[in-house]
Amino acid sequence: MTEGTKNIVVTIDGPAGAGKSTVARAAAARIGLPYLDTGALYRAAALKLKQAGIAPEEGERITGALSSIDIELLPDGRITACGEDVTKAIRTPEVDRIVSAYAARGEVREALISIQRAQAANGLVADGRDMGTVVFPDAELKIFLTASAEERARRRCLERRAKGEEADYDVVLKEVNERDHYDMTREIAPLRPAPGCIILDSSDMDAEAVTDVIASLAGEFMEQNRR
Ligand code: DC
Repeated sequence: MTEGTKNIVVTIDGPAGAGKSTVARAAAARIGLPYLDTGALYRAAALKLKQAGIAPEEGERITGALSSIDIELLPDGRITACGEDVTKAIRTPEVDRIVSAYAARGEVREALISIQRAQAANGLVADGRDMGTVVFPDAELKIFLTASAEERARRRCLERRAKGEEADYDVVLKEVNERDHYDMTREIAPLRPAPGCIILDSSDMDAEAVTDVIASLAGEFMEQNRR
């Protein structure tokens, strides 16, 4: 980052499969800011709660368990929970299926909010569902990145097949629609565009084109801030 520029907060929210994490990671590297993958935090919490036999409805047990499940994001991009490396374990179809139900719980969101805000001291690019609406409402640049459900299902299938997993397009499309519905209609921190955000539809854009737009918007903002 150029000397004298402010460390800004850039938020990228949007539905599953819109390409948020790819673009957020690339934009962060381009702008010179740390990247915060908040979906990974929700995934790690869900994985550990499930392993401990705690259901999403068990509010009090969740609060107790999360106070001792120490989730850490390492600078190299790995994530640990209770010291165990869960980087791979949080990306399974099983975690895909269970995570929304845990993420809808206030107890889970409350526990993760302070971890997220603690990372922002030097500015960052954060992606998730409520970055611009709840966690960083004063962010300098807020993006809502979306794409059609069909395009997002197509991308998810390619991703799964690239990992050697089976992926049936119709099943994945159904999952995408169900998760959208769940994330958008939940009572706490529902997925929606933040006030003042810029909405980008990536259905016909590749990750590089979206990264270019975000990096250039961030660059303009930093430039204006220096004048
Ligand atoms: O982006 P992802 O697929 O890794 O997110 C996993 C789940 O966590 C998804 O159900 C939405 C939820 N989530 C959330 O509620 N708030 C965030 N800031 C990030 C993710």
